[in-house]
Amino acid sequence: MTDAKPKPFIAGNWKMNGLKASAGELVQVMAGYAPALRAKVDLAICPPATQLIPFALAALGSRVAIGAQDCHAKASGAHTGDLSAEMIADTGASHVIVGHSERRTDHAETDAIVRAKAEAAWRAGLVAILCIGETEAERRGGTTLSVVDTQLEGSVPDGASAANLVIAYEPVWAIGTGLVPSNEDIAEVHAHIRQRLVARFGAEGEGMRILYGGSVKPSNAGEILRIENVDGALVGGASLKAADFLGIAAAYA
Ligand code: PGA
Repeated sequence: MTDAKPKPFIAGNWKMNGLKASAGELVQVMAGYAPALRAKVDLAICPPATQLIPFALAALGSRVAIGAQDCHAKASGAHTGDLSAEMIADTGASHVIVGHSERRTDHAETDAIVRAKAEAAWRAGLVAILCIGETEAERRGGTTLSVVDTQLEGSVPDGASAANLVIAYEPVWAIGTGLVPSNEDIAEVHAHIRQRLVARFGAEGEGMRILYGGSVKPSNAGEILRIENVDGALVGGASLKAADFLGIAAAYA
């Protein structure tokens, strides 16, 4: 598509949080997403599945994208409790997170499963936000880059483009812990991911957004989002409150 620097993107992953009453946070995010900010950064909120339809309806015309947190690889069938990418697209959502470390751990999702889910997302016309990242033991053992390589090779399908894929680098040990890698470590991994994406997808890989995720908050966003090859953030805890989420986006204002 382009070899220009990608437009930054900040996605909020609400995880298993949020009831009907939480819609006010979305309203506040939309209200704070003024044209000047819109020009500089794309925003998405990924609420629990129960809120996809009302959120997608509420966000119509606001330019805040709505995403799901997971999808099944199949389009339909006997899979009790699961949602297909087609069902998610049917809600009006445009994005879906696949391969989050909590899914990889809690639901034993392998790279092959994550890859099939990303393909399902594209089949339904959704953008896949595909998560990768090393555990604390892997970081200590010095294998971070090879872990990331294996996940990229195994999870990212052929046919990825800057328009249909967002990578989220989330060190597992940084998620929800308040711990964040050093700027140098983030820069190293993001540069490595960029190099791998370009090696595999050519110029298209230059335009793919690589988000950092793991304990991003308003107080550290300015520093993290300035790091080269960091094209935005996947935000968990700090995305639940509109003021914090907008405070992170304000790093681009
Ligand atoms: P956190 O979660 O911001 O609460 O660390 C990030 C994520 O899991 O996407």
